[in-house]
Amino acid sequence: MTENRYWRLNKRPEGEDVASALSLETETITDIAEGEVLVKNAYLSMDAGTRMWMTEREDGYQPPLELGTKMVGLGLGHVVQSRNADYAEGDLVRGFGQWAEYAVIEPESAGLVKVDANISDIKQHFGVLGLNGWTALWGLKETAGVKAGDNVVVSAAAGATGVLACQIAKILGANVYGLAGGPDKCRWLEEELGITKAIDYKNDDIAAELAKVDGGINAYFDNVGGPILDAVLPNMAHYGRVAICGLLAQYKGDGRGQGPENFDQILMKRLRIEGFFCPDFMDQGDKLTAQLKEWLDQGLIDTPFDVTDGVENVLSAYDKLFSGGNIGKVLVKL
Ligand SMILES: NC(=O)c1ccc[n+]([C@@H]2O[C@H](COP(=O)([O-])OP(=O)(O)OC[C@H]3O[C@@H](n4cnc5c(N)ncnc54)[C@H](OP(=O)(O)O)[C@@H]3O)[C@@H](O)[C@H]2O)c1
Repeated sequence: MTENRYWRLNKRPEGEDVASALSLETETITDIAEGEVLVKNAYLSMDAGTRMWMTEREDGYQPPLELGTKMVGLGLGHVVQSRNADYAEGDLVRGFGQWAEYAVIEPESAGLVKVDANISDIKQHFGVLGLNGWTALWGLKETAGVKAGDNVVVSAAAGATGVLACQIAKILGANVYGLAGGPDKCRWLEEELGITKAIDYKNDDIAAELAKVDGGINAYFDNVGGPILDAVLPNMAHYGRVAICGLLAQYKGDGRGQGPENFDQILMKRLRIEGFFCPDFMDQGDKLTAQLKEWLDQGLIDTPFDVTDGVENVLSAYDKLFSGGNIGKVLVKL
C-alpha cells in the first residue's frame, strides 16, 4: 500500500488562472494492473505544452485531459513495483506519468524509457538528454535544415527548449539571435551562452533589431507564435525556414490563435514553415541522445535548472513558464 499525493484537474483553467482548476489530493495505491509499473518520481518536468491539454479543444496534438483525472506530465524516477516483464524494480525511467509522488504507468502509452542511472547528474535526462534536447536538435537540423553560417533566431531563448536550441545552433556554426524577456535574461544569453545577440522583446523593437541582421534570417526556431512571429517574418531571408516548435503566446486561452498578419511574407520570401512534434521522432531518441551526450561530454552544451522542492509547490513552478520566471529547465524535486 502506497500513500500518494497527486494533482487533479477539476475544470478547464481560464487564462492565467491555472491554480483554481487543480487540487492536490491524496490516495492509497493498493495495487497496479498487469502490464503497469509504479514509479516513485524523483523529478517532475514542467512543460508549457501541457497547458493546452487542460483545454477542451479536440483538434490539438493531444486529446484534452478528462476532468476529474490526474494531471499528466513527464516524470523521472525509479520503478518501485513492476507487473511488466520489461521493467524491474530499481530501474531509472522517464515517461509521461502524473503530477504525483508516485506515478502509475502503462509503459507503451506513456513513452516510458529506461535511462542511464550512472550519469553524474540524472537531471540531465530532463536537460540536454531530455525531450527538450531532442526537440531542439530535431527542429534545427531536420525541420529548419540549419547549416554553418546561417543566421538563426530562437524565441523564448532563455527557456528549457530555447537555451538548448541556442547552443545547438552555435555548435552547428550558425550566428544565433535569441529573443527573451528583460535585460537580465538577454545579458545572460550573451555572456553565459555566448550567442551573437539577444533581443529583449519586452523593451526593444524586435522587428527593427532583426532588420539589422546582415543577409536576413535563414532559420527561425519559434517557441511562441503570436506577435513575435509577425515581427520575424518580414526579416526572413529569401528561402528561409520557420520551424514551429510551440505557440506559447496562445496557450493561455484555448490554445487557438489567428494566423500571422504578415502571412504574405511566406510568398514574398518563398519561406517554408513547418511544425514538428517530439512524439513523432521518439524512435530516433537513441540517435539524438547519443549526439547530445557527445556534446555534453565535450562541454559544448549544458542546461541550467530551476528546481522547486515538493509536490505541493508544482503550481508555482509551472507558473514560471508563463510569467517568464525561469532560466532553463523548470523541475520539481520530490
Ligand atoms: N514541438 C515539440 O515537440 C515541443 C517539445 C517541447 C516543448 N515545445 C514547446 O517549446 C516551447 C517552450 O516550452 P518549454 O516547456 O521549454 O518552456 P520554457 O521555454 O522553459 O518556458 C517558457 C518561457 O517562454 C517565455 N514566454 C512565456 N510566454 C511568452 C509569450 N507570450 N511570448 C514570448 N515568450 C514567452 C518565458 O520567458 P521570457 O522571460 O523570455 O518571456 C518563459 O520563461 C513551448 O511552446 C512548448 O510547447 C514543443
